[in-house]
Amino acid sequence: MNRPGAVPSTQALALREAAACLAAGGLVAFPTETVYGLGARADDDAAVAKIFQAKGRPSDHPLIVHVASMAGAEAFASSLSSDAQNLMAHFWPGPLTVIVSRRVGQALAAAGGQDSLGLRMPSHPVARALLREAAHAGVAGIAAPSANRFGHVSPTTAAHVRSEFGPGLLILDGGPCEVGIESTIIDCTSAQPVLLRPGGLERQRIEAVLGRALRDRQADSPRASGTLAAHYAPRAKLRLMSAEQIALALAPQAVGGLCNGHPQRLAVYSRTVPQTVAGLVYRTMPAQAVMAARELFAVLRDLDALEVQQVWVEMPPELPDWEGVRDRLQRAAAA
Ligand code: TXA
Ligand code: MG
Repeated sequence: MNRPGAVPSTQALALREAAACLAAGGLVAFPTETVYGLGARADDDAAVAKIFQAKGRPSDHPLIVHVASMAGAEAFASSLSSDAQNLMAHFWPGPLTVIVSRRVGQALAAAGGQDSLGLRMPSHPVARALLREAAHAGVAGIAAPSANRFGHVSPTTAAHVRSEFGPGLLILDGGPCEVGIESTIIDCTSAQPVLLRPGGLERQRIEAVLGRALRDRQADSPRASGTLAAHYAPRAKLRLMSAEQIALALAPQAVGGLCNGHPQRLAVYSRTVPQTVAGLVYRTMPAQAVMAARELFAVLRDLDALEVQQVWVEMPPELPDWEGVRDRLQRAAAA
């Protein structure tokens, strides 16, 4: 990266420090294009155990292993089906996680003890630089869940990560995440690929590459915390409502009773309902799904910081590009 003798930039130094920390079995938080991850070297079960401990996550909930290259992916997989190879070739680096069969002896703790393993090649330049630098330091892959405590809202800025884990954690700051919700997860361990988690990459684009429809997740699919009914939850109670329901509840005769004299405790996050009630916390949801995804978790965190107790969220449109945002909101509302 630097010519011999050249003074390394601050970023290069930070990357080298982070890679050394990973190589030594430590934890590093880093940006990806989806959300920030909390990483440890995937080939070291003791290092990976620190992730589960820091997050308060049950150790049988598998993590995603992030790799720098196809060779990195092959090192963790026992074999790659043609569907898996096809998806990786089309969408890596990017917000897609592919579940493959795990190579025996590799990343047992990261896999939560399962025979399968989630692999992802992120596109964020800092994540890619870290993966390269770590590979130089002997780290084949970085196991990393979202850098939040179990069940919380995922972090999309370095400050969010800091607020989850405090000052002791090494965090690489790559600015706000562009995608804003987690990767789409496709299970390619059987003949018919399964959509385990909608996310940053649209279902239609994946189906176009596969040349057939994805199956939907069955209740007996491998355990996946991001697929628990209640997850991604802010402290405030979140209600998903139609625009009509919100408008009706905000009608002058209804407001006094609903807000219980504490209108500042209620927030409305809506694309179409105008801000009519003074004193409510009001946020406009972007009209475009990509923009809504980008800001979603930051908005939920902001509302928590304002100590809002209830958030009324307008249900996003039933359109394909909103699937990821709808999914996160439904899980937040189920908490
Ligand atoms: O965008 C993302 O995917 C972010 C960034 C950091 O890469 N990571 C992320 O990790 O969202 P996490 O741990 O918060 O969510 C990973 C999801 C979980 O629902 C987990 O159960 C599922 O992936 N998963 C991982 N390995 C799996 C496997 N072998 N079988 C089924 N699900 C798996
Ligand atoms: Mg998570």
